[in-house]
Amino acid sequence: MNIIIFGPPGAGKGTQSSFLVEKRKMYQLSTGDLLRAELKSKSKLSEKLKQIMDKGQLVSDDIINDLIEKKISEPSVKNNIIFDGFPRNIDQAKSLDSMLSKYDQVISLVLNLKVDNSILVKRISGRVSCSICKKPFNEYFDPPVDPSECINERCKNRDLTKRSDDNESTVSNRLSIYQETTLPLLKFYEIKGVVKNVDAMKSIKEVTDQINSELCDL
Ligand code: AP5
Repeated sequence: MNIIIFGPPGAGKGTQSSFLVEKRKMYQLSTGDLLRAELKSKSKLSEKLKQIMDKGQLVSDDIINDLIEKKISEPSVKNNIIFDGFPRNIDQAKSLDSMLSKYDQVISLVLNLKVDNSILVKRISGRVSCSICKKPFNEYFDPPVDPSECINERCKNRDLTKRSDDNESTVSNRLSIYQETTLPLLKFYEIKGVVKNVDAMKSIKEVTDQINSELCDL
């Protein structure tokens, strides 16, 4: 089963995807993570990407679709993918449909994480992540556990990192782009009858429970 985890910046897409990876052994395909990995390569492309991402703008569809197809075509992840942060506009959604059909796959479920804008800024500004396993924490809502209590042995030597696009000016741009370009995409999936709404204002655990119950109903 392939799933799209949909929602505004800071809705909890990455947080909930990491639980699905842990419990259901699904593959998380996060375009944001793939782009951030490219940034570290210090290539010519990475300089261009950094400028775009630091302004909170969307990266071009060609770059994104190329990253996505490389992963979708891998037999080891077939029909077991969580799309996190993709698609983000109607052209990306149409490209995803044709790529999936080329590799004999479909989207079974779109989990729409609904959160009021008022708390998204706090979620984003308080976000820190483990430098080793990338798990997100939040200084206000979900403080980082002591590394010695972390379930992952390797995380004992972690640092906590902040993203360069997690600042107030970029956040307002990211939220506007979501409203104008990404949110209208929901209609595309509603017509297909695959959207389930999730109240993502609730605690992390309660959101996970809602998602698990949607998955059990399939
Ligand atoms: P991307 O990395 O995809 O960022 P985003 O969509 O802005 O989403 P975030 O990662 O900020 O939020 P999230 O929903 O994953 O929240 P999280 O779980 O971390 O994209 C970054 C950039 O890359 C884009 O701006 C763009 O430039 C580019 N890009 C990416 N994909 C692209 C595409 N397809 N096309 C073009 N460009 C693309 O949670 C946030 C915080 O809240 C954490 O601290 C967490 O602990 C906390 N939290 C989570 N859930 C809860 C809860 N229920 N209660 C309290 N706190 C919570």
